[in-house]
Amino acid sequence: MSNIDYDKAQEYIVSLVPPREPEVQKMEKYAEENDFPIIGPACGYYCYQLARMIGARSVFELGSGYGYSTVWFAKAVKENGGGVVHHTVWEEELSKRAAGHLSALGSADVVKFHVAEAVESLSRAAGPFDIIFNDIDKEAYPNSLPVIKEKLRRGGLLIIDNMLWYGQTLDPNDHEESTEAIRRFTRDITTDPDWIVSLTPMRDGMIVACKK
Ligand SMILES: C[S@@+](CC[C@H](N)C(=O)[O-])C[C@H]1O[C@@H](n2cnc3c(N)ncnc32)[C@H](O)[C@@H]1O
Repeated sequence: MSNIDYDKAQEYIVSLVPPREPEVQKMEKYAEENDFPIIGPACGYYCYQLARMIGARSVFELGSGYGYSTVWFAKAVKENGGGVVHHTVWEEELSKRAAGHLSALGSADVVKFHVAEAVESLSRAAGPFDIIFNDIDKEAYPNSLPVIKEKLRRGGLLIIDNMLWYGQTLDPNDHEESTEAIRRFTRDITTDPDWIVSLTPMRDGMIVACKK
């Protein structure tokens, strides 16, 4: 196991993802050129797979950026027979950009756009949701958990990004607020008997947790 080159493994995993539509490739190129932290093709495809597997029809995203992760959930929801994907971000410009991409892909009809603080927005949403995806500022992860737990249906999935935090989570000398918040969130969810949790080391590490 120790002979596995992490970066090479990631490249290999990405190479297995089927080709994306030109509009999606455009979004990936923008992220690369502007250093914007999207979840990327492997995690995007994984989210799509999970959403298809559970037949998700209602998804709430916290921290949606310009809609790259949204594209994958919207594709799954449409293929599952239709429903809604909530896109939430506090930058109006990103919300508008996301709407443009989703329209170009013919998926805007299943997406609702909210320009708002994401956890507050979730707490006001009706729910319960089949999937809640969390990619907000890491310092806010711990306080988002009780709201997520309340709004997710039993058997629903929480997917949360950046659990390895580019290696900082594993560094015992790293005590940045964001790193400590990720550690606390991980402790909270893995010690709560109401969740079945696994962390997959894809890209920056994603937790997938099923609410019992
Ligand atoms: C990591 S990026 C999102 C990437 C997106 N999930 C993707 O993979 O395409 C996080 C975005 O959410 C915004 N954000 C962070 N914390 C937020 C919060 N609490 N409420 C709303 N937006 C937030 C950030 O400013 C940024 O635009």
